[in-house]
Amino acid sequence: MRRFFAVGHRASTDPGFPLDDLAGSAGRMDILLNAANAALLLAHGIRRDSEIGLLLLGPPAPPRFVRLVGFRLKSYQPDIRSNASLIRQTLVDASRVEHEFSPGVYGSIATFPEALDRLGPTFVALREGGKDIRQAALPSDATFVLSDNQELAADEEGGLRDRGALAVGVGPVALHTDHAIAIVHNELDRRGA
Ligand SMILES: C[S@@+](CC[C@H](N)C(=O)[O-])C[C@H]1O[C@@H](n2cnc3c(N)ncnc32)[C@H](O)[C@@H]1O
Repeated sequence: MRRFFAVGHRASTDPGFPLDDLAGSAGRMDILLNAANAALLLAHGIRRDSEIGLLLLGPPAPPRFVRLVGFRLKSYQPDIRSNASLIRQTLVDASRVEHEFSPGVYGSIATFPEALDRLGPTFVALREGGKDIRQAALPSDATFVLSDNQELAADEEGGLRDRGALAVGVGPVALHTDHAIAIVHNELDRRGA
């Protein structure tokens, strides 16, 4: 299983967040939705061996954790506006117990460390300046952790350090979150081929 985890520091937790303003008043929800597409989609289908966890930390009711699981998803399309509706459904009834709101789409209340512990079991922190992925021995069954357009907060970095995360870079320049995920998939696809 390939696992990704993306943190949306301002991503809205309002079940009525606007579908027409994902990059604005929805708190850069577009970054998380594009990351989900990169994690889950192939040109002609879904990566059934991949899942992504999205942590929504924006107002009014953070933290919310949404998990999209490739092998369970039905009718998942590249259109991020439609996929935003899937996220909105998970925000309606908050519970610490994870609930499947539609096939492959799970929602719950979970903090950053709780979300890490639901993913795991080993972690790779994707960041510029980390060990070059082309030379890195990647732990098996790792969760790849990314941020949005903000750096991870100090306590989030600490949580990763405590779990022995390996810092890995995918190249010499800062990329968008979804592009970094695409490079990780490509590296793993090549190693598996
Ligand atoms: C837009 S970047 C984060 C903000 C960035 N530091 C900036 O200057 O705006 C989004 C995320 O993609 C990942 N990322 C971007 N470039 C990367 C690289 N060269 N190597 C590894 N991960 C990268 C990191 O996880 C990062 O948190």
